[in-house]
Amino acid sequence: MEREFDGKVVVVSGAASGISRVVMTRFVEAGARAAILDIDDEWGTETARRLVEQGHDVIYCHTDVRDSGQVNQAIATTVERFGRVDILVHGAGVGVHKEVVDLSDDEWDLQVDVQLRGAFLLSRAVGRRLIEQGEGGRIILLGSGSGNNARPKSGPHGASKAGEIQLAKVMALELGKYNITSNVVSPGLTDISGISRSTQHPEYQAAHNAQVALGRLAQPDEIADAVLFFASDRARFITGQMVNIDGGYSAGKLVVQGPLELTDYEKEWHAADFERRSR
Ligand SMILES: NC(=O)c1ccc[n+]([C@@H]2O[C@H](COP(=O)([O-])OP(=O)(O)OC[C@H]3O[C@@H](n4cnc5c(N)ncnc54)[C@H](O)[C@@H]3O)[C@@H](O)[C@H]2O)c1
Repeated sequence: MEREFDGKVVVVSGAASGISRVVMTRFVEAGARAAILDIDDEWGTETARRLVEQGHDVIYCHTDVRDSGQVNQAIATTVERFGRVDILVHGAGVGVHKEVVDLSDDEWDLQVDVQLRGAFLLSRAVGRRLIEQGEGGRIILLGSGSGNNARPKSGPHGASKAGEIQLAKVMALELGKYNITSNVVSPGLTDISGISRSTQHPEYQAAHNAQVALGRLAQPDEIADAVLFFASDRARFITGQMVNIDGGYSAGKLVVQGPLELTDYEKEWHAADFERRSR
């Protein structure tokens, strides 16, 4: 049976664990060959080993996405192994949760460099290869609701995610002539328990869920659904866009309800409307 990504090669940063691992696994289950770019050698090699054992074609490349030499080498290794690249997903991320006045220089740099500089270095390396191949391609950056919806203690996180959104738009304009699309998939708070070394406090999850129209965390597969859609032929005319996969969190504020008291004008209007309807 033909699968949607048969013959395609996908590079996924951060895919040793978490959402990106689920995204990468969904790609290979749909026929793609994959390169995992990560610094977590233990989980990265284990993830690749497990998928190879199941008959998939997956490699692990130790790659610090902040380092252009390592990024360029990883893309060269991927091309050497698979002969091409078709899709980039940048999902590597770190969490620094501090107020701006408490941040050290290094903490700021770490988060911005992994998430934003990493997006640039990977997109440049993969973009150059896609142009050389001349068959189009896909760049998908994992964003975050905090890229356009501020919350305390997310300074470098929100700033880097906002930067990724604008970078994706610029690349959409620059790479359109090569039939390369560039989009951002922004997850809401996602359940990564059991698949990540990162943890989320239950109180944080509960506070978040109280603000979400659909009342729960996202599942990693729901993020992967959107990423695979953007990578698919069905999204061939979509570029420079950002979509929130967040259960409605970004749609508005659940806590702010409409006024409970009607004004005199509204009371009159309702009375007249009632009379009209009952005629
Ligand atoms: N989990 C959520 O609720 C959530 C919500 C919104 C956005 N996101 C975004 O989704 C992406 C994945 O998040 P996650 O929760 O699955 O994270 P995670 O912590 O589970 O995974 C992140 C991966 O990135 C890797 N990584 C870290 N620094 C790296 C570096 N310098 N070079 C290469 N790899 C590096 C880690 O080793 C890890 O495998 C991130 O960009 C994150 O900002 C997550």
